[in-house]
Amino acid sequence: MRLDYLTIFPDYLDPLQLSLPGKAIEKGLLELHVHDLRQWTHDRHHTVDDTPYGGGAGMVMKPEPFGEAFEALALGEGEGEATILFTTPSGEPLTQSLARELSTRERLVFACGRYEGIDQRVLDHAGTLGEVREISLGDYVLNGGEVAALAITEAVVRLLPGFMGNAASLVEESHEDGLLEYPVYTKPATWRDREVPAVLLSGDHGRIAAWRHEQALRRTAERRPDLIHASQGASEWEIVPAVRADAPELLTLQLACWVQEALDNDTLDIPALHESLDDVLAHLEAWDVYVVRAAGRLVGSVSGHAEGDLWSIGRLMVAPDQQGRGMGRALLAHIESVAAPATTTYGLFTGERSARNHRIYKKAGYRLRGDLAAAPGAVTLTKRRR
Ligand SMILES: C[S@@+](CC[C@H](N)C(=O)[O-])C[C@H]1O[C@@H](n2cnc3c(N)ncnc32)[C@H](O)[C@@H]1O
Repeated sequence: MRLDYLTIFPDYLDPLQLSLPGKAIEKGLLELHVHDLRQWTHDRHHTVDDTPYGGGAGMVMKPEPFGEAFEALALGEGEGEATILFTTPSGEPLTQSLARELSTRERLVFACGRYEGIDQRVLDHAGTLGEVREISLGDYVLNGGEVAALAITEAVVRLLPGFMGNAASLVEESHEDGLLEYPVYTKPATWRDREVPAVLLSGDHGRIAAWRHEQALRRTAERRPDLIHASQGASEWEIVPAVRADAPELLTLQLACWVQEALDNDTLDIPALHESLDDVLAHLEAWDVYVVRAAGRLVGSVSGHAEGDLWSIGRLMVAPDQQGRGMGRALLAHIESVAAPATTTYGLFTGERSARNHRIYKKAGYRLRGDLAAAPGAVTLTKRRR
C-alpha cells in the first residue's frame, strides 16, 4: 500500500515512522510519503489560505496548491485509482468497517485541512481523479486534519495482511463482531487482592467463550447501546420453515459463519464459501430448511435431507454475534425432531479442525465416524435415532 499526505505541517506526521508502521515500511508492506503543501505555492510567503467568499470568520485553504499537488502525485494517471481522503468533521465517521474497506485500497492520499477547511472545488476536482472519501474522527472539531490522518492510518495499516503477527487477535477485537471487547486479564492470577475471574482459569474453552460473549454484550449494552441490534437483546425466537425469499439472507449468514470454519481449518476450499444465490435457492428446493429470526433478522438456520434410513443434517449455522445462546442446540434438536419417519441414524459433516463444532456435536450425542467417507479436510459424525 502507498500512502501520501498533503499537509502544511509535515513534522506533525513524524510518528508515522515509529512503531508498527515503521516496521511495515521495513518489511516493504508500506510506502509512505509526506509532502509539504507549501512547495506548490509561488509567492514569497508560501500562502496556502485566503479569506472566504461570502464573508465570515477564518480563512479557507486555496485550491491551487492542492491542484498542483495532485498533478505532482500523478493522480488520475496510469493504472490503479487512488482513494483521496479529506479529513473533515462533516465526513462519514471513521469506523472499523470503513478502516477494513480502506485497507483493501492500493493507494490512499490524505488531504489534511486547516483553518476553516478546503475550497470545495478541490474535492470536486479530486472526484474526477480518483475515489473521494470525506472522513470524520468524531463529533468534535480539531485544529487540523493531521491527527485524523494519523488515526485513520493506524486503523487501516494494522489490518494489512502480514502487518500484525497474530491475525486472530484482529478478529476478536472491539467492533469486529459489532460488540465491544470483553475485559482482558494477564498474570498474576491475584494482584493486590484482586482475582482474575475463575472461569478464565478453568481451561473450559466453551465456558470461556460463553463468558466472554456475555461480558461483551453487557459492556456494549451499558456503554454503547446504539451498537446493539435489537436481535441481540431479543429473548424470543422461533424456528420456522425457510421460504425462497430467505435466500439472500441465508447466503450472507452462510458466508459469515463459514469464515470461522475457514480460519479454524486454514483453508478457503469450503463449498459454503463459494456458493451463489442460485446455489442457495437450489439447496432450498432439495433440503428441508429451517431458519430462526430474532427481531426480524435471520440469525440461524439448519437443513435436513433423507437418504434412505439416514437423515442427513447440514448447514447448521448461527450468526457469530448470536452464538452462545443455545440457538445451535435448539436448531439441531429441531432438525432431528422433523426427520423422515424411516430414519434410524442422523449424520452430519464438519471440518476436521472445527473444535467448537466437535464439542457441540459430541455434547448432543454424535460420535466421530472415521470408518465413513467424508470430503478432504472434513469428518463424518453420526447418532442413532432413539
Ligand atoms: C478547525 S477545523 C475546520 C472545521 C470546519 N470549519 C467545520 O466546521 O467543519 C480544521 C481542519 O481540521 C480537521 N478536522 C477538524 N475536526 C475534525 C474531525 N472531527 N475529523 C476529521 N478532521 C477534522 C479538518 O481537516 C478541518 O478542515
